[in-house]
Amino acid sequence: MDNVNFNLNDEVTIRSASIDLHPETSRADDSKTPWTDGMASDAPDTPYAGMPKEVLLRFSSQMRYRVVRETLFWLIVVAMVALVVAPIAIIVLSPRCLDWWQMSPIYQVYPLSFKDSDGDGKGDLRGIWSKLDYFEELNIKSIWINPIYKSPMKDSGYDISNFMEIDPIFGTMEDFEDLLTSIHDRGMKLIMDYVPNHSSNEHEWFEKSRKRENAHKDYYMWRNCISEGNNTIPPNNWVSKFGGSAWTYDDLRKQCYFHQFSPEQPDLNFTNPEVFKEAEKTVIHYDDLYHDYTTTQLGLHDVIREWRALLNKKSGEAGKYRLMITESYDNSEIKKTMMYYGTNLQYEADFPFNFLLVDDQSNISVAAISKLLDIWMSNMPKDRWPNWVLGNHDNPRVASNVGPTYARTLNMLLLTLPGTATTYYGEELGMTNLNDSNDEDESRHSHKTLDQPMPDRNGERSPMQWDNSTNGGFSTANETWIPVNQNYKTLNVQVEKDQSSSMLTLYRKLTKLHQSELPMQRGWTCFFDNPQVVAFVRETDGLNRCFIVVLNFGDMQVNVNLTRMHIALHGQATVRISIDGTRDDESINLQSVTLLVGEGMVLEYRNSQPIHDNPGPQKKCYSTEKACYVPMLGILLKC
Ligand code: NOJ
Repeated sequence: MDNVNFNLNDEVTIRSASIDLHPETSRADDSKTPWTDGMASDAPDTPYAGMPKEVLLRFSSQMRYRVVRETLFWLIVVAMVALVVAPIAIIVLSPRCLDWWQMSPIYQVYPLSFKDSDGDGKGDLRGIWSKLDYFEELNIKSIWINPIYKSPMKDSGYDISNFMEIDPIFGTMEDFEDLLTSIHDRGMKLIMDYVPNHSSNEHEWFEKSRKRENAHKDYYMWRNCISEGNNTIPPNNWVSKFGGSAWTYDDLRKQCYFHQFSPEQPDLNFTNPEVFKEAEKTVIHYDDLYHDYTTTQLGLHDVIREWRALLNKKSGEAGKYRLMITESYDNSEIKKTMMYYGTNLQYEADFPFNFLLVDDQSNISVAAISKLLDIWMSNMPKDRWPNWVLGNHDNPRVASNVGPTYARTLNMLLLTLPGTATTYYGEELGMTNLNDSNDEDESRHSHKTLDQPMPDRNGERSPMQWDNSTNGGFSTANETWIPVNQNYKTLNVQVEKDQSSSMLTLYRKLTKLHQSELPMQRGWTCFFDNPQVVAFVRETDGLNRCFIVVLNFGDMQVNVNLTRMHIALHGQATVRISIDGTRDDESINLQSVTLLVGEGMVLEYRNSQPIHDNPGPQKKCYSTEKACYVPMLGILLKC
């Protein structure tokens, strides 16, 4: 039947027509024919049910169905391809997320001095635990605590007699685990101080080594020397970092052992150096020698790579990255320091501590600070992460070195530079060293001995100043392990918390800015070459605003024309953070920025063109974890 008039509204006709088209099928097995299955000829019609292929094809080839069908088909294909491609594209185009150690300053806690929980005058783990809110108030995500392992405390815990136990001064392993859990519960991380160079002379390895017990015989660096009565003629002229010979005679083994630091800290033998010929020289100071046999030894970086590999192994899960920071005493030799970053093929530390801003605080000037910034940034391997330190447990406090004014300026610098900042506890308050008038008290507690002077670093280790109650709220003991600085009555957390112009308020504003503003976290830093001020811009590609940091490290008031520093700088900017809070939100004409001695400002500026794009002769730009912001999507992409 060729002339059936196919009409959508004519299902019955079509059906009948279909039967006629296949009379043999219909006859052979009428009941199995799908479109007549079980139906009497006068059964009610079901639209399209059982439509034969030919009929279906006639319909489906009509344009209106074809268009719909093909459109749907391609839509589905495109959607499926997009589903596969989009995540891949996002992964490929997204910049690396900043890791936990890149997101906030590292706050250094010297545990003996932070908070005493049991009234024995010494800070402990439960004390730190009781102050976890404080870290949150400071917008701190990473806490570093100095060694808390079992130790005779000859070098405040850096002389470790058991690397696997907690020293009872600080508490128990349970206290440590509770502290760690609470830190993690708050989304923070704990950085432990690992000291592989040496052990305590009370470590069982050393005891065994002294007795030449087989396995431990060469754990330390033993050399023959001559001992006559109280006199020792050491194998050579090497001097320890803490002064005096780096060799001490051991009566039991009848040899001398090497110690980079105090005699109570025998160096572990990570290498097996040859016997060196004794050089005849009278050397008194550590710095009088080249330490080419005693530091940065051949194979040192192999050892560090092994540690890196070990940490990588433990870094498997997301968010569990194990950070490695190294501390070395070759700060002045920048190339040596940079080697701790490793190479692009073989990473070592995430960063070596940058002590440039610690080492030369006697020399504060625009030129000196600019030079230090340049040394680190221009020597750091490409695409690595910078870091900055102002003070630690081994150096007089920054506020004592440079005075309260520049201490603020330096903190503003520290917290606005690219990379990770490290804050030694109390620096956020402007804490000072135990002053000289406290000396009598101090020496009572100092570790000095006649034969081997241990440097006295208690000045910078005095207890944290929490409030103006007894012992500055650090401890309820009658006597604390070292005295609390008497300025605690006015210089403490409680007082400064409520002062809009305090150092603590400044610190909190700066860490908050870092936490909330993309340009402060990643992207470009352009340093301007200006004799009057230290000035730099932080910007992220794609954002039409940036931050300009201007700091007066000079010794007189200055008036700077910032528009001269870059073509894109003109008009007004808003003061986001001023050094004492008094100029916050002020609108500033970039042509005329006046800064008092030590004054600093973070300006927010809407720029029409990127600063880093148009390098002039007066500026140097560096990128760290560069990423491009896409305003329409509100996401970051690689660029
Ligand atoms: C480095 C530490 O920072 C310092 O305090 C300690 O005295 C030496 N290592 C020796 O362990």
